[in-house]
Amino acid sequence: MDSQIAKILREADQIILSAKSREDLERVYIKFFGKNSDLNKLTKKILTLPKEQKPKAGQQINLVKRELEKLFEEAKTRLSSQLSALSSPIDPTAPGKRIQLGHLHLVSQAIEEIVEIFSKLGFLLQSYPEIDWDWYTFESLNMPKNHPARDEWETFFIKASPDPKYGSQVLTPHTSNGQVREMQRVKKPPIRMINIARCYRRQIDVSHTPMFHQFEGLLIDKNVSIPDLKGTFNFFTQNFFGPDRVTRLRPHHFRFTEPSFEVDITCDVCDGRGCRMCKSGWLELGGAGMVHPKVLKSGGIDAQIYSGFAFGWGIERTIAMKTNTDDIRLLYQNDIRFLEQF
Ligand code: PHE
Repeated sequence: MDSQIAKILREADQIILSAKSREDLERVYIKFFGKNSDLNKLTKKILTLPKEQKPKAGQQINLVKRELEKLFEEAKTRLSSQLSALSSPIDPTAPGKRIQLGHLHLVSQAIEEIVEIFSKLGFLLQSYPEIDWDWYTFESLNMPKNHPARDEWETFFIKASPDPKYGSQVLTPHTSNGQVREMQRVKKPPIRMINIARCYRRQIDVSHTPMFHQFEGLLIDKNVSIPDLKGTFNFFTQNFFGPDRVTRLRPHHFRFTEPSFEVDITCDVCDGRGCRMCKSGWLELGGAGMVHPKVLKSGGIDAQIYSGFAFGWGIERTIAMKTNTDDIRLLYQNDIRFLEQF
């Protein structure tokens, strides 16, 4: 009996492991466990054995059965994992899925473009603090303490004890704080600066957000005049908005420029004829003017020798005008349906 058992196990190892399909395996199973199998014959033979040999023989048969079952289980698992690999849902011939690429936010795109355009005219990008002293923000720009003109800048003040010379600290409400800082840095003109920074004001509606960006231009040299300023604006608007757009200067008042202007650009929707969006055919771009002699003096520059112009425009407003967006708050709502369009 021992030799027969050894034979069954030897055969089983090879035959079971070589089964190539489930059907194969079923056939092999019948061969080992079926009516005519050696195992079945051996089981029957137990009945004919003397009584004292029966328990041992029974144990041996059970051991063999367990061993065989184990081999079948292994073979079954191996076959089913091979099968699922064959019927895998991956189709290597199907066209690939394009991964969606993101892009820079509209504001960042505009900043890059603005810097690029002004660099062609020799304006260099500078950065100045976004939390600055009252002195750089107002006082050095010919806006003394308690002057009513300051109201227009709806400023956030920092809670800290003021400096005896520079006063309180503020969240910069415009980029003009960079003007005197740039004069102090360069000391001797020529100056061609572009300063782009975040600005903060207590305001929110369709055309205002409490945090926004401005870009400030400052040019100081000998014999600078208003046509230089106008030429610079036309160069910018034609490069940024398109060759057909033109600008106009409207008299205005700022304490730090004299004369001062508001710069308008022809409306894109109606081509300057007048429509619902612009009313008069013109859209307001921002403020500008010839640098006030008192501001040059704050920066240590001799107003008898040098003159210059400055301008400060909102980036969000500029984007809205280029894309015909009627609510600049959309820029900060992170709605992908809006941002994806650009
Ligand atoms: N700083 C002004 C503002 O925020 C704009 C300006 C800048 C006007 C430079 C004239 C010169 O409205």
